[in-house]
Amino acid sequence: MPKIAIFASGNGSNAENIIQYFKYKKNIIIDIILTNRKDAFVIERAKKYSIDVKIFDKNEFYDSDDIINLLIKRKISNIVLAGFLWLIPNNLIMAFPDRILNIHPALLPKYGGKGMYGMNVHKAVIENKEKESGISIHLVNEKYDEGKIIFQAKCKINENDSSESLAEKVHKLEYEYFPKVIDDWLGK
Ligand code: GAR
Repeated sequence: MPKIAIFASGNGSNAENIIQYFKYKKNIIIDIILTNRKDAFVIERAKKYSIDVKIFDKNEFYDSDDIINLLIKRKISNIVLAGFLWLIPNNLIMAFPDRILNIHPALLPKYGGKGMYGMNVHKAVIENKEKESGISIHLVNEKYDEGKIIFQAKCKINENDSSESLAEKVHKLEYEYFPKVIDDWLGK
């Protein structure tokens, strides 16, 4: 049975949407939320569903095997990054090959890479007067946003759109598709 760990750095609206989607699916468990910020709102969201939370710092994440050991101990089979902003270290990728999925709020390979997250992405897209944006869901490798893309969905951008209104459009796509794509991925 798939047992999922979700990594999130901030608000956690995607994490909560995923938790809700899988709540009544008996064959898939959202087991734990991991975050690098002790003030991340995702912690409150996890509490609401009585899901365990692990908060870690840079040393623990990059200079120890603590997180991997925790995931193995809890028999985690797959990892979902839902607004997680740190680069995944190699030892974690090796421990979960092709079993880490990330969502990115733009149409990769454009607007990816270090520093390209959340509103930074939407601001850059609007500044460049793009006509469309969207979401990319991809496997995670050792480089930011470069793993194999398994799903994309698009939205149109019109002249009146701001980075905030674009963020809203992209969030809608995320809520609609991310849980379903995770579900399909786990079924394979
Ligand atoms: C989401 O839009 C997600 O795609 C993005 O952060 C947001 C988190 O929102 N992720 C990245 O930018 C990763 N590079 P949330 O915390 O409300 O789910």
